[in-house]
Amino acid sequence: MILITGATGVVGRETVRLLVEGGAEVAAVTRDPHAGFPAGTQLLHPAKVPTIDGVEAILLSPRATGSTAADLLARARGTGAARVVVLSSVAVQYPAGHARFRRQFHTAEDVAKGSGLDWTILRCADFAANTLAWAGQIQATGTVRGAYPHARTSTVDERDIAAVAALALTHPQHRGQTYLLTGEQPLSQPEKVAALGTALERTLSFDEAAPDEIRRGMLAASLPEEVPDRLLGSLADYAREAGPTTDTVRLLLGRPARTYATWARDHRAAFTAGGPR
Ligand SMILES: NC(=O)c1ccc[n+]([C@@H]2O[C@H](COP(=O)([O-])OP(=O)(O)OC[C@H]3O[C@@H](n4cnc5c(N)ncnc54)[C@H](OP(=O)(O)O)[C@@H]3O)[C@@H](O)[C@H]2O)c1
Repeated sequence: MILITGATGVVGRETVRLLVEGGAEVAAVTRDPHAGFPAGTQLLHPAKVPTIDGVEAILLSPRATGSTAADLLARARGTGAARVVVLSSVAVQYPAGHARFRRQFHTAEDVAKGSGLDWTILRCADFAANTLAWAGQIQATGTVRGAYPHARTSTVDERDIAAVAALALTHPQHRGQTYLLTGEQPLSQPEKVAALGTALERTLSFDEAAPDEIRRGMLAASLPEEVPDRLLGSLADYAREAGPTTDTVRLLLGRPARTYATWARDHRAAFTAGGPR
């Protein structure tokens, strides 16, 4: 049995799908009793995790597990689990953004390394799916207003992270490895918006705004202060120095990392009026 925490997230959901497709027995951890997963997937409320036995491997999503990660891994090890794969961030290795946001990833990595399980760390670049935050503006006006246009990152397609996670969860030779997972092409924010325009066959534009304006807009939209802090802190750093670019996805999967243009094409519907937000 493979236990997927954060199973309703973009990485967790795709990891569940790939594992089930590959014939694995999977338990998907979610607070949502109606979360839809492929037939055969066992749904598990986080509170019930300590009651299950027979877990061989765990995908650890730091946001979902928070301070419960150490207990979860200790119990899994006590009941015979072999390995843990951690969804961490490139910011651990290439510091960007406020230190307090990196700390949760450092902690999760340390917990995995101290658990006695075989561990694999996936330090991920910003997910392509983060740009779904632009969907409302693109649908409404065709213009994205944002701060730090020159911030460049090699955004990673979350489906590539899931493919690596599925591999590491099922193949022991990845133990003790730390993989830096990024796309292969650093793009600025206007370049990402232009790629979305190509996918949508629409002319889209990026309009630079002062960081304070973006912060005020997010707070006015009732987002917790943590959201602008997280976003603006890392964009400010990536405007000074681009995020890392690696070929790790290619080395591990034997094919190039999916490009942002491919992600944009595959997620067109989310940016189309009436499409999912
Ligand atoms: N986005 C990025 O650019 C990025 C980069 C590097 C690393 N990461 C990390 O990668 C991991 C996976 O990201 P993701 O976007 O796929 O997942 P996500 O949307 O952050 O979270 C996945 C699921 O975890 C549960 N969850 C979230 N916050 C929770 C909380 N406070 N308490 C309990 N459960 C909570 C929710 O599931 P239910 O509501 O179904 O219970 C949520 O759907 C996260 O740990 C994230 O920090 C993200």
